[in-house]
Amino acid sequence: MNVKNNQLYFDGLSAEELIKKYKTPLYVYEAEVIRRQYNSLAKNISYPHTKIHYAAKANANPAILKIIRQLGGNIEAVSKGKILSAFKAGFKPGQIIYTCNGAEEEELRFVIDNDITANLDSLNQIETWGRLNPNSSISLRLNLDIGAGSHIYITTGGRRSKFGIHISKIKEAKKLAKKYGLRIVGLHQHIGSDVVDGKVFGKAMRTLLKIASQFPELEFVNFGGGFGIPYKPDQKPLDTKTLGDQITKIMNQFTKEYGKEINVIIEPGRYLVAQAGTLLTSVTDIKSNPSRTFVSTNTGFNHMIRSAMYFAYHNVTNASRVEGKKKTVTVVGNICESADIFAQDRVITNPKKGDILAIHDTGAYGYTMSSLYNARVKPAEVLIDNGKAKLIRERLNIENILDSI
Ligand code: LLP
Repeated sequence: MNVKNNQLYFDGLSAEELIKKYKTPLYVYEAEVIRRQYNSLAKNISYPHTKIHYAAKANANPAILKIIRQLGGNIEAVSKGKILSAFKAGFKPGQIIYTCNGAEEEELRFVIDNDITANLDSLNQIETWGRLNPNSSISLRLNLDIGAGSHIYITTGGRRSKFGIHISKIKEAKKLAKKYGLRIVGLHQHIGSDVVDGKVFGKAMRTLLKIASQFPELEFVNFGGGFGIPYKPDQKPLDTKTLGDQITKIMNQFTKEYGKEINVIIEPGRYLVAQAGTLLTSVTDIKSNPSRTFVSTNTGFNHMIRSAMYFAYHNVTNASRVEGKKKTVTVVGNICESADIFAQDRVITNPKKGDILAIHDTGAYGYTMSSLYNARVKPAEVLIDNGKAKLIRERLNIENILDSI
């Protein structure tokens, strides 16, 4: 993304020309950014047995899954649906790892039938798995009382969190595994999301590896995802070189003590796709009261819920006139809810009706968390690759979805 003639461009294509063809609201993704992000992880982790499993919950558009596959990535899937999407995008069972909580027996059976490795999240899941598939291999998702993340709702470790088998239950987990002849070949941990402090990962990794020495049959350890991105203009990006060096150092030391080399899995979602995505929307109305100027758009939290749900900061720019006279405005959506705010009291180039606003860093947990709330259709999605735009998800007509709203 860059600015030319005071307009926002994506790999040579202006926001204005894109929306002339595809209309708004429109998710625009840049393939090159996904490749850059993937390589910054892949190149900086020199531990030779590292596997990247993209957390497909972040964005499972088939075109995006295909880019990940072409880069040599694998998939972390949260449900049967995500596994099916991964299959459709050409991933093989051995490239997919499944992690869910509260899984139904039917879903576990599907995972077993398709020969997919699972990170089991509770004692009950071990019991069900053992009954359905005795003498097989499993991985355990552990909660080692370490949580992190940019909001409490995206923190997935610690005692407030519903995720994982708590450290205090490890003995019972091992007992159950033994009862069904299950080999524990993997240990998994995902402490939370949008973490930019590399030191936190170091602490979490070392804690998991301390426990790992109690499991003699390990083939892998899985450190989860959670790698954050700089949403705010003054935020520093995660230093992937230091992170990679840390993983390599910690693993080299561990394998020496453990007596064999095992795989490391990481499951980045946001880090790979967030910055690749921009939600383009049109200004539909502007109104002021004595304290605020509201800029209304033709999107809302039905299309991008992060700001409403986690008070997440997303940079908003005026794609029609990037520079110009500034104004402090509150950018809102068209949904009948007071939480439908993208940016409160934000300084942007004075918007006019009909301008295109860009809501940045929306490639992860954007479209995928969208809904049909207020009976409005979802945005279309376009991928920009090598200076060419391709429609990768059509906008449906309201008539097509009347039965679902
Ligand atoms: N692995 C597991 C087991 C996970 O549960 C998640 C995310 C990831 C990997 C990927 O995390 P990431 O690298 O993307 O941080 N909707 C929220 C994020 C929820 C993440 C849920 N789990 C958001 O918009 O911030």
